[in-house]
Amino acid sequence: MQSLITGIKPTGKIHLGNYFGAFKPAFEFQKDYQSYIFLANLHALNQIQDGKELKETSFDLCANLISLGLDTENSNFFLQSDVPEHAELCWILSTICSFGVLERAHAWKDFKNKGLKDPKLGLFSYPVLMAADILLYNVDIVPVGKDQKQHVEIARDLAHKFNGIYGDTFILPTPVIQKEVETITGIDGQKMSKSYDNIIAIFEDENLVKKSIMKIQTDSLPVDAVKDPNTCNIFQIYKHMANTQELANFKDKYLAGGLSYGEAKNTLFDKFMVYFKEARAKKVKLLEKPDQIHQILEKGKLQAKKRAQTTLNLVKEKTGLTL
Ligand code: ADP
Ligand code: TRP
Repeated sequence: MQSLITGIKPTGKIHLGNYFGAFKPAFEFQKDYQSYIFLANLHALNQIQDGKELKETSFDLCANLISLGLDTENSNFFLQSDVPEHAELCWILSTICSFGVLERAHAWKDFKNKGLKDPKLGLFSYPVLMAADILLYNVDIVPVGKDQKQHVEIARDLAHKFNGIYGDTFILPTPVIQKEVETITGIDGQKMSKSYDNIIAIFEDENLVKKSIMKIQTDSLPVDAVKDPNTCNIFQIYKHMANTQELANFKDKYLAGGLSYGEAKNTLFDKFMVYFKEARAKKVKLLEKPDQIHQILEKGKLQAKKRAQTTLNLVKEKTGLTL
């Protein structure tokens, strides 16, 4: 059976961009692939340096992912920090990773362009840890959003380089990015992202969801004007939740004129609440028995460790780290 790995940083509220761009596609692969899905909490330390906060966001994210469809029976779901082999392989890969590659990484360049002070080594070497996350499991595919493509390519390059120096060890992983969901639009029309403060968070309180939706930016065409769904941020978000018939109906309303943006936003809100009803209810139930989450992570940890150790033992053998 082929395998996959994907990770998510517990750094904030899970939003439509994360779900449609990364998790939903990854969850769809679960039945056909042996899946390793983890909380990238070592990566999160670059952003959250408050122990209580990291614990809370991590636990919340576990509950969110399980509620949204992570199949805990068939997938191995674990915390990155529970498998120290990630950090160990990261070090080994850092000894073959060129400085220039990391200087060209988007996340680092963005950070520098923002002129932020006191850049940290953890952020600079982020792609090396991510390469370790991936290569440790010798997987075939890595389902991610478009912004992670470069990181997976760095992992491929490091695998290739390592294999060249030490002989065949790693499978070269393939990033899988679904074209139609590669960039989910935020409420301001840019890519939806926590860092742009333009998200619609999936498990947010109903009133706050409504508030975010009501803030979606639109043009100022009058109610009776014909409107273009393809350039409307409301429609661009709606389309990911609607079925073909609903989409056609909504499109007709845009093209007929007479649709106010207020009404369009209400349609989107109603759709959102129906679409995520089950997941939101499941989360409430799950949180009544939080121990279940610890048990799932414990099981995932054991499975992940087994696979990670096999790879790391081979790496240690090849590099001469074992006697
Ligand atoms: P954010 O940009 O909000 O900080 P993350 O970097 O934590 O989100 O992203 C987690 C996953 O969700 C990644 O695989 C990323 O590619 C995907 N993702 C995030 N935002 C979007 C978006 N707007 N469209 C598509 N995929 C996205
Ligand atoms: N860098 C990814 C993000 O920001 C999270 C991540 C860490 C990841 N390690 C990974 C994703 C390995 C896929 C595979 O979203």
